[in-house]
Amino acid sequence: MAKLDWSNLNFGYIKTDYNVRCYYRDDAWGELEVHDSDKIELHMAATCLHYGQEAFEGLKAFMGEDGKIRIFRMDENAKRMQSSADGILMAKVPSELFQKAVIKAVELNRDYVPPYGSGAALYIRPLLIGTGAQVGVKPASEYLFMVFVTPVGPYFKEGFKPTPVVIMREFDRAAPQGTGNLKVGGNYAAGMRSGIKAHSEGYSAVLYLDSKEKKYIDECGPANFFGIKNNQYITPESKSILPSITNKSLKVIAEDMGLEVISRRVPYEELETFNEVGMCGTAAVISPIARIDDADLNTSIIYSKDGKPGPVSEMLYRKLRDIQNGLEKDKYGWITVVE
Ligand code: PLP
Ligand code: COI
Repeated sequence: MAKLDWSNLNFGYIKTDYNVRCYYRDDAWGELEVHDSDKIELHMAATCLHYGQEAFEGLKAFMGEDGKIRIFRMDENAKRMQSSADGILMAKVPSELFQKAVIKAVELNRDYVPPYGSGAALYIRPLLIGTGAQVGVKPASEYLFMVFVTPVGPYFKEGFKPTPVVIMREFDRAAPQGTGNLKVGGNYAAGMRSGIKAHSEGYSAVLYLDSKEKKYIDECGPANFFGIKNNQYITPESKSILPSITNKSLKVIAEDMGLEVISRRVPYEELETFNEVGMCGTAAVISPIARIDDADLNTSIIYSKDGKPGPVSEMLYRKLRDIQNGLEKDKYGWITVVE
């Protein structure tokens, strides 16, 4: 096992022993290759460098108390990467190839799966780039699919503690008919200015309103948004948010816990009616929101006065983590065990 300070990892890159790669050339995917270098050689006219032909995924593997490694819902990430590829005209990675590459990358780096109880996880980053040279704005004819892994701690350094977020109308992340529903690099470039500004002002993320009317809640930095009230789990429906696999899972868990699950547009005015609000995502898991500041109107809505997560967020978090760690039976078929 690698010698790392497992309980104090942040969300950063640590080199592991191997990564897995597959090239698309002459209209076909090649064989999976295993590499130990974390560098790639790339044509300077590759479309990923000029025109943003790039999509990625993020999923996690967890070490259970029983010593088994569990990968969470990778079939969903495979599907989402296909829809991202479709959206920016890249070659699609077949689901079987995607899953084989993910399992291989985890197996080869099992020494880097953080131990049970450390709170950390092995973050898996599949990535698809246009490698073929073009100068005109058109799709490449060659692609590279890669999977690397890296052990990570919590995305927000506070972990499962409520943090403040901010609404800033001067920035949009994605256009209504744009690429916000795809996991493509361009969206993250578009969100950097606002994200960094929010961080420098002490917020963990930007809470984006819909870009067209600024009337509805979209999502929250690198995570979806949910609100809890009247025994309901309410989450925004919007064409410009990333369909979060964590959110999809929480909806199932919430329903099983007896909550009513509602996906619909969430008007800005509704924010003050929630008892609990939070962000959810692979990296963020559940990150409860302590306070929503509106930077333009100079208003604040406070959700956590005592610095603690709300009871429903706590239950959802516990249940999700227990499934991921194997403490709870995998009754939904979300787990792939790597022996
Ligand atoms: N929204 C954005 C913009 C994200 O980058 C992510 C992270 O992947 C999410 C939501 C959460 O999605 P998931 O739960 O599939 O990780
Ligand atoms: C994730 O939650 O997996 C993400 O990809 C979020 C962020 C690191 C981009």
